[in-house]
Amino acid sequence: MISTRPTPHSMAPAPTADEWALLDFAVSLKAMLRGPMKALLPQIYETQAADAWALRQGRRPQSWRDVASAMEDQPAYRWWSGLLRAQQEFYLDVTSTTCEREAPVLIERFRELAAGPGLGSLTLDDSVVIPPYQADVDIHCVPGSYFIERTPDDVWAGARSDLGGFVFTMGKQGVLNDDKGLSGAAFVKQRFPDLQPRRILDLGCTIGCSTLPWCDAFPDAEVHALDLSAPSLRYGWARAQSLGKAVHFRQGDAEATPYGDGGFDLVVSHILLHETSRAALGNIIAEAHRLLAPGGVMLHIEVPVRRNEAFDQFLTNWDSTNNNEPFWSTLAEMDLVAPALEAGFPRESIFEAVVPTQRAKAGDWLGYGARKASI
Ligand SMILES: C[S@@+](CC[C@H](N)C(=O)[O-])C[C@H]1O[C@@H](n2cnc3c(N)ncnc32)[C@H](O)[C@@H]1O
Repeated sequence: MISTRPTPHSMAPAPTADEWALLDFAVSLKAMLRGPMKALLPQIYETQAADAWALRQGRRPQSWRDVASAMEDQPAYRWWSGLLRAQQEFYLDVTSTTCEREAPVLIERFRELAAGPGLGSLTLDDSVVIPPYQADVDIHCVPGSYFIERTPDDVWAGARSDLGGFVFTMGKQGVLNDDKGLSGAAFVKQRFPDLQPRRILDLGCTIGCSTLPWCDAFPDAEVHALDLSAPSLRYGWARAQSLGKAVHFRQGDAEATPYGDGGFDLVVSHILLHETSRAALGNIIAEAHRLLAPGGVMLHIEVPVRRNEAFDQFLTNWDSTNNNEPFWSTLAEMDLVAPALEAGFPRESIFEAVVPTQRAKAGDWLGYGARKASI
């Protein structure tokens, strides 16, 4: 059972008591699978799978792909993996149904807010083309991914992200699911104490869960947020209104944004890169460099996809092979210095770092970034 509930705000979808019971079950099941059940897998690998594979192949498994081929026919692993996938589909069914029921009310709330003066702004652009790495995959098995729109002013996908994000993270990333932004802002303040950003841009913001902490961390800055998904942006803007935060939300492609050169002092993203592609990642880093003023900072907060041990890497890559995250395992193996160098960042400014969680996330974040040369 989740020990907390998400912070209520006027846009939040409200599960019924029965739906919360189902969601609590989903979370308990996930906690069991990701906790004590997962903890048994290394032993099964060491005592059974690795030896059997070595007998067949004439060598010990070395890479995570070797480990995968050793484990994939182990009944215990198949049982665990199948249940984890079933858990994902189950929680998606429940959150989708709740948001389906709530959608007409939430659309009306969005329209009421949009008719008022409002904080920040919302700029949608229906000429934006969804790139294939997003259009062709229902990321994380979410039906319609971030983009499904079945009615004017649809906010369903945004509402589902809000409720779903809280349940998916088992409430461990805060009642506003804001740990990524909070952790990123704390990291920037500690690593770049001289940086006083006047304009901040969050790329791939979805509904702005990670954007809002930047408003609090730098209250004098103008905060902008960009995403491909119109229903997420409508919902995110309305959610920011109900939480009293001024953010300028805009629909656009992070590979080629609609902003001018050098207009931002800080360009950030939160778990965007692992949902793109090799080419897109390079374009996004080049775009961040173009958008930054001299001396400006780029920071991408990512899932800690890189692991030292082959077995850990195999388990970390579970989402790539079983949960519609095709680029996740590629990102884990990529040289991230090269795209930043190609974009024009000075080599000595490019970093990968552990970004400590500010909430109760298990493990920390991967921070990847660089600082544009000062003139
Ligand atoms: C995992 S979600 C990001 C979550 C969000 N940053 C947060 O911390 O809550 C990935 C988001 O990136 C967006 N996205 C993916 N590729 C993009 C691109 N090329 N340009 C803009 N947004 C993109 C998707 O639409 C989706 O909303």
